[in-house]
Amino acid sequence: MKTKIYSIKEKNLRIEPNLKDYNKVYKNFKWKDAEKEISFFSNGKLNAAYNALDRHVEKNGNKIALYWESEKEKKKYTYKELSILSNKFANVLKKLGVKKGDRCYIFLPRTPELYISFFGILKIGAIATILFPAFGSWGVEQRAKKAKPIVFVTNSELYERIRKMKNKPKNIILTDSDSKISFKKEMQVASSEFNIEKMNKDDEMLLMFTSSTAGTPIEGIVITHYAIVQQLITARYVLDLHKQNVYWCTADPGWITGVVYGILAPLINGNSIISYEGRFDAQKWIDILADYKVDMLYTAPTALRMLQSAEPKIPKLNLRHVCCVGEALNPEAIEWAKKKFGLIVHDTYWQTETGAMMICNFPCVPVKEGSMGKPVPGIEAEIVDKNGKILKDRKEGDLAFKPGWPAMMKTVWENKKMYNSYFRGKWYITNDRAYRDREGYFWFVGRASEIIKTAGERVSPFEIESTLLEHPAVAEAAVIGKPDKLRGEIIKAFIVLRNTKIGIGDKLIEDIQQFVKKKLAGHAYPKEIEFIDKMPKTRSGKILRRLLKAKELHLSLGDTSMLEE
Ligand code: PRX
Repeated sequence: MKTKIYSIKEKNLRIEPNLKDYNKVYKNFKWKDAEKEISFFSNGKLNAAYNALDRHVEKNGNKIALYWESEKEKKKYTYKELSILSNKFANVLKKLGVKKGDRCYIFLPRTPELYISFFGILKIGAIATILFPAFGSWGVEQRAKKAKPIVFVTNSELYERIRKMKNKPKNIILTDSDSKISFKKEMQVASSEFNIEKMNKDDEMLLMFTSSTAGTPIEGIVITHYAIVQQLITARYVLDLHKQNVYWCTADPGWITGVVYGILAPLINGNSIISYEGRFDAQKWIDILADYKVDMLYTAPTALRMLQSAEPKIPKLNLRHVCCVGEALNPEAIEWAKKKFGLIVHDTYWQTETGAMMICNFPCVPVKEGSMGKPVPGIEAEIVDKNGKILKDRKEGDLAFKPGWPAMMKTVWENKKMYNSYFRGKWYITNDRAYRDREGYFWFVGRASEIIKTAGERVSPFEIESTLLEHPAVAEAAVIGKPDKLRGEIIKAFIVLRNTKIGIGDKLIEDIQQFVKKKLAGHAYPKEIEFIDKMPKTRSGKILRRLLKAKELHLSLGDTSMLEE
């Protein structure tokens, strides 16, 4: 099939993009030059929160930094207000004895307190973790066990999931109740002056949990303050944010996209951001785009497909540019968006571990439909074989990056071995399969591991299997990602029951699904469950998910010589 190419002319760019000549900039790019866009204290020290808020206060203090909306109310915060409120929260933390390097977790829906506490945590030099609010009690506990936070900022509803946790964090701050440490009361008495901690470039800023690309369930990916150099430059070059824009990133801050491009990068650039605390509602999304005159949207392919299938009424919008991330962007979604928004969706590729965008489509470069685009200036990308040898154009292999970019993870939390496993020779290995064409465009082929991507969110089959095994009826479980038109993949579980005489039916399926939703996470439960008599295993007892998947998709079973029988 012939590739569709959208020329720059066809993009109808409404304003001149920040990046005007990709090849020239790529050739001459130096991270040292990009550093000039960031405010450093003396001796090369910096703080991401200072860059996102305080440095704008003098000239643009009254500009709206955050438009917030829930299903019931609306609020807005200026840069000056967020700067003061986060100072106050940093003082609340100081009173609790929080110090540089301590871990503070935020477990909240997208409320204003999430943004305020996030910046307060960064200002005191502590490490911020934001947990997706769909996590259940077990999911949260596993993540807390890893890095032992001394503060948890949450609300009374979500607190219920922490309540029974063994080794609960010392300080529980509740945003809507006085029954623990009261966010409201403490903020009232806290000073609005705070001396922001001056951080070294490689001091930790974020600790985001994800399954490793090799598939292990929960690893803490550590990103430093210096990452903001790349986060800002990509927001300018790729998202093409200009200061005057209202920008909306639809990802939850519990995921890396939501925290980096939903909060940090646009505020560091001085934009107004939007936060919508509510369920997905296609018409509501379109209303937000219209009401706030959003001119740049960063979202996920699943969200575009959901909009497409809901067929909302779309009035004339102010949208100028749309980008996507998280999973392969299918041509139908591009074509739908072209019809409805009059824009070509630009795909971007990166990972939690890379801390910022790596391979992207740029406004000033033609888009090849289905390609992830070209490396961000400053990034060296190659396709390598299993020995780390660079492969020729059009050869499929492992997508790899030359280590040393500013946002690259500093480490995997207390798991140096896991961190080391990401590297092969002089390459960082993404664990994604891809190839490059003769014009330097990269094309995603698939994941090398058994990681599942559902609605753009990374889930590990192991974590879901472990949860399933705790259900009293389940003897064995194997989980795969099954291709799905809307969500990219859905989670499918194969289960062997303890008692074969047990009534198999919708009730049992529902019971198992609810069990996983409550315990692990509302977004990571198996949408499909199939009961089987026996698991395919190797002779050493390892479950062969690959075979289950091949059978499910009616593919060839491949090499079955390792089967136990
Ligand atoms: O498999 C790739 C897929 O998402 C993985 C990273 O997931 P996560 O750390 O959750 O970060 C998501 C957003 C930064 C990658 O290893 N992925 C990401 N972008 C794309 C993609 N797959 C296909 N096309 C993309 N544009």
